[in-house]
Amino acid sequence: MSSSKKNLRIGLVGFGSMGRTHAYAVHNLPYYYHPLLYCAKVAGVCTTSAERSRAYAEQYGLGRAYENVESMIADETIDIIDICTPNELHFDTVLAALKAGKYVLCEKPLCVTTEQARAIADAEKSSGVFGGMVFNNRFMAPILRAKLLIDQGRLGRLLSFHCAYEHNSSTFAEKEPGWKQTAAHGGGVLNDLGSHAVDLIYHLCGEFDCVQGLSQIAFAQHGERWQTDADEAFYITAQLKCGACGTIVANKLATGANDDLSLSIFGETGSIKYSLNEPEWLYFYDRTRPTAPIGGESGYIRIECGGRYPAPGGAFPSPKATVGWLRCHVESYFTFLNCVASGTPFTPSLTDGAYVQLILERARSSAAQGMQLKVGAL
Ligand SMILES: NC(=O)c1ccc[n+]([C@@H]2O[C@H](COP(=O)([O-])OP(=O)(O)OC[C@H]3O[C@@H](n4cnc5c(N)ncnc54)[C@H](O)[C@@H]3O)[C@@H](O)[C@H]2O)c1
Repeated sequence: MSSSKKNLRIGLVGFGSMGRTHAYAVHNLPYYYHPLLYCAKVAGVCTTSAERSRAYAEQYGLGRAYENVESMIADETIDIIDICTPNELHFDTVLAALKAGKYVLCEKPLCVTTEQARAIADAEKSSGVFGGMVFNNRFMAPILRAKLLIDQGRLGRLLSFHCAYEHNSSTFAEKEPGWKQTAAHGGGVLNDLGSHAVDLIYHLCGEFDCVQGLSQIAFAQHGERWQTDADEAFYITAQLKCGACGTIVANKLATGANDDLSLSIFGETGSIKYSLNEPEWLYFYDRTRPTAPIGGESGYIRIECGGRYPAPGGAFPSPKATVGWLRCHVESYFTFLNCVASGTPFTPSLTDGAYVQLILERARSSAAQGMQLKVGAL
């Protein structure tokens, strides 16, 4: 029986931790979303080793193993190039894919310099296709709800915010340094965790006016051994164009932290709090609720967002089931493919990724110069 559904054929570049995550998302879309209006499939994979790519293709059902990214982009049967390589490699692949008329899904951060970011934003505008960023935290259900509440004006004028993304991974002396610990490969915690945190504040509260950055490397060496030349913690104070001020922390020196992302946004009439370690809940304080002796009705309420995605999501697994990090990657991928299938531009776009890159670069320059800097336009 032939299907009238649109086929979307994806070429996956890189099959490390995120390549696997993206392949998982695509393979499992039919379980999570019913009906699914298109038929998406990973049709090819490419890594640094053709032999490993062949083994992955066979083991995970990833279609064809390509010798290199150029041959994948040149293949007319591939519709979407999905980029899961180290940060410094994103730029060339994004540009080549857009030039070849492919849709592009790019892992964060978009690239490693503002010049590259501007070139990509220009290329996206003139390409006739569009791209998307994997800022997957936007797709956690409590963050979708937070965006709704802010857009509905339930927080009123935004006053202040904190966002911290913390890991403990730079506190392990025995861990071999890799590309994420090497500045020349686009490593460093600001690019890595900082891009997510900056994007969340940009997404929920709007554009940035000025930033001041402070960068920290606590373990340049571990004993005799080289460890890193890239920031292990980065602290930003920022003022937004809406007037709100706050802090953004990206930190891999957080002993005891696993994947700790926390966010608070305070407005004149309400506030929200969220933690990735409690992905079921958005905490919402509504200042308009009546207060009285012994509390009245005031106080934070805990909204059960969990797996309650809008249709056609939300039914599997049951909304009662606890959700995890993988679920927001699935929702992010689903939303991107919906946009490709219907020809509607996706948010976060590559241009959104470029704007985040500008903020990261201004924060880094500010840390180097020891002074606050205006962010300006892309
Ligand atoms: N959104 C998230 O939740 C999240 C989490 C972790 C990492 N990331 C991002 O995902 C990207 C990949 O990170 P990772 O942790 O999967 O890295 P990784 O080191 O685990 O995997 C990188 C992959 O890229 C391949 N690769 C390297 N050079 C290549 C080339 N020239 N051509 C083809 N393939 C090549 C490697 O063979 C490997 O398969 C990074 O940009 C990172 O910032 C995102």
